[in-house]
This record gives sequence, C-alpha cells and structure tokens, in this order.
Amino acid sequence: MAMTQTWNTAELVAQDQAHLLHPVSNLHQVRRDGPLVFTRGEDVFLWDTEGKRYIDGFAGLWNVNVGHGRAELARAAAAQMEELAFVPTFFGLAAPPTIELAARLAEIFPDPINHFQFTSGGAESNETALKIARYFWWLRGEPEKTKILSRRMGYHGIAMGALAATGIPAYHEGFGPQVPGFVHLTPPYAYRHGEGMTDEQFIAKLVAELEETIAREGANTIAAMIAEPVQGAGGVVVPPDGYWRAIAPVLKAHNILLIFDEVITGFGRTGTMLGMEQYGVTPDIASFAKGITSGYVPLGGVGVSDDLFETLSAPDRMFMHGFTYSGHPVACAVALPNIRIIEEEGLPANAAEGGAYLLGELEKLRERPYVGNVRGKGLMLLVEPVADKASKAKPDAALNVGGRLTKATRERGVIVRCTNDGIAIAPPLTIRRPELDAIAAAVGEALDEVLG
Ligand SMILES: Cc1ncc(COP(=O)(O)O)c(C=O)c1O
Repeated sequence: MAMTQTWNTAELVAQDQAHLLHPVSNLHQVRRDGPLVFTRGEDVFLWDTEGKRYIDGFAGLWNVNVGHGRAELARAAAAQMEELAFVPTFFGLAAPPTIELAARLAEIFPDPINHFQFTSGGAESNETALKIARYFWWLRGEPEKTKILSRRMGYHGIAMGALAATGIPAYHEGFGPQVPGFVHLTPPYAYRHGEGMTDEQFIAKLVAELEETIAREGANTIAAMIAEPVQGAGGVVVPPDGYWRAIAPVLKAHNILLIFDEVITGFGRTGTMLGMEQYGVTPDIASFAKGITSGYVPLGGVGVSDDLFETLSAPDRMFMHGFTYSGHPVACAVALPNIRIIEEEGLPANAAEGGAYLLGELEKLRERPYVGNVRGKGLMLLVEPVADKASKAKPDAALNVGGRLTKATRERGVIVRCTNDGIAIAPPLTIRRPELDAIAAAVGEALDEVLG
C-alpha cells in the first residue's frame, strides 16, 4: 500500500539546495529555483510533495520499464535481504538469485551470448565491456588491439572509459584529458547527415567511413566498436533498417568485436526484448542496466559470447575485473520478477504498439514551423525543434528553449527530457492511450508556448 505522509516542501527544498549536487543539472538554477521533489509513484504516475500528479513520460531515466509501485518487486528485495543480503561473486562465490539471473539472461540473449558478469549500472557495464574486449585480444596474443570505435551522439556513461566512448562534447568539457585510443564515427542520423540520400546511399556513406577509419587506424590496433542499437541520450537516433546488417560484417571481416550498449534498449523499450532483435545483428558483447530491474535497485551487466568466454577462462589466469556489487543478490532477486513482469504482461509488444501510436501523434507536430524532425523506435522518441526548417538551424542557445520547454511541460503535468536538441520521451512500457495522448498534447502545447 502506498504510504500517506505529508511533506514539508519548503524544508526539503531548502535542504536540497544546501546539500545535494544534482547530476546533469544546472546547479546554479537548482540552487535558485529549487528541485522538484516526488514522493510517490504508481504505474506511469508520480506525485510531488504538494500532491500534484504528473505522467512520468521519461520512466525515471528511461529505466522504470514496468512502472512505479510494483509491490512484488519490493517483496522480492525484502525477502532476499532477510535471507542473505550480500555475498560477492569475487573468488568464485555466488548466491542463488545471481546464478539464476545469469541463466535466465542466457535464455533471453541470442546465442552465442551465454555468459554474464554483473555491475551496478550502465557506465560500469560499459567499462567492463571495453576492458573485456581489450583483455580478450591480449589473451589471444594481439595486445596492440586496444582502440575503441564509437559514434558521435553516442552516450555510454560518465566513468572515464565510458566517457571517452561517449560522443557528446558537453560531457567532456572541463573534465581534463580523455582516455586515449577512442575514435568517433558519424552517427546514422539521417536528418542531419543523410540529407537527400536514400537509406541505401546513406548506409553506404557510413560503411565507407568505417572502412576508411579502419584502414587509417589499422585493424590490428582496434579492439572493438561500441554502439547503442538505437542512440538514446544523444538524441534518439534511429538507424535506417539495414545499417547494422551493413556495419557488422565490416567489423567481423577486420576482427573487430561489436559491443552493443543495450542499457536503454534492453528489456523491452524498443518493442522487442532487446534492441538488437530489431536489426537482426548479434554482437560479441552486450552491456545492459536500467530496465533489467526497472530502476527499483541498481543493476547492470554484460553478456559475452561463448568464444570470448572460452578465451577468458584460460587455465593459468585470474580474471582481474569486477565490482564489489557485481551480482548483488538483492538486485538480482529483483531483476528476476521484473523480467517475469515484462514477459507476462507483454510489455515489449505494448512498447511497439504504444510507441507507433505516439510517433503518429507526434508526427502531426511536423506541421509546426519550429518542429524539424520527429523520430522514435518503440517507446523512445524525440521531437527536434529548429529555429528554421529550411536551414535546420537549431534554436538559439541563449533563448534557453530546453529550460522553458521543461517548465511548460511540467506545468502541464508531464515529465519529459527537454533540451535545445529536442524533447525526449520514454514512458514506462505499461503506458496506455489516454496517457500517450496527454503526453502528445503537453508536448505540442509546450512547443507552441515556447516557440510559437
Ligand atoms: C546507452 C547508455 N549507456 C550507458 C549509460 C550509463 O548508465 P549509468 O548512468 O547507469 O552509468 C546510459 C545512461 O543513460 C545510457 O543511456
């Protein structure tokens, strides 16, 4: 049952302003205007300290896939804590839910991805994936294969290795030298990079760039390419069908591993259990987090292929990588019923259907002179505003379009992520028509108010 408690908004806001450093926030603004504090969640809804109801149109941070307030997940966590709160997976130790989850994931991921190590989130998962790729080649007697290919607009987290793979300059600015050996490619962002081209021509251009990059850098120096099947935080870049089927063989031909970052796309969001299923390509390594527990507790991980696992299991080697919380029993005990809910309630199918519907509704905004592009896959969508449709010029940063859209959507009881680059929408996968309509209406009205 939901707790009924009254909150002292002013006191909470004052303490937040005094003591909390908010990630990816303008700290000056939060200190001046205060945070928005939520106290309760139920399915796709959130309530703030004043009792105002919002639609969580961003599912927390693209992660609350099964929606808020699932008592079953709370019970699973409590039961595991009472039985055995923690043992590590270091030194050959384990607890039953951790083992069970690895076995369950082996059923969910396509062959040959059958072996899993766990982490506490997305960045740790990508650090793990990148290190495993390098370590694999080192064990194979090719220690010079260390470079990593990634893409501009890719987001892989903010730990140093994941950050170097991330292709969004704002995350790099001011944080000193980046980890060397990362090479960024053009994203499959047709609206700005494939203008006037057919999908085939655009894909051919991107494949040619990949081949040129490999030739320039030397295949014998490249360990892996890391990429989101559909780019999320960088701007919901949905690749043209056929892109991954064209890119993957080039990597394979040059002995470059493919790492799919399924942190957002995993566990139903794109309309299939995994994002990779949309594109018919199986990577060598897959990283995941977010939706595996729907955010109820932190958990991430990587899956590796049989081939990699064989090499990693060399008889004379310790695998010197892992985190204290790799395979946390409580997190794994929550992941299992979370995955069951995703499957039993058909949430990937609901994401496909609801996403297609919402995309259709948002497409109508294209008539506005200030909407340049609308795109999405399943329940990850983005409306891209422009200052001028013909030139595709972005809104003037000085106008603070992101901040004003944030305010305008929140006033309408909808939480979405608004920046100068677009309004990103990613609600829980349980969402139904009335709330999809409410999101589309709030986004349209907010755009009219701010840019009309
Ligand atoms: C695709 C992708 N990879 C990695 C991450 C980083 O995950 P975390 O914030 O849990 O470290 C994110 C977070 O949004 C993400 O979207």
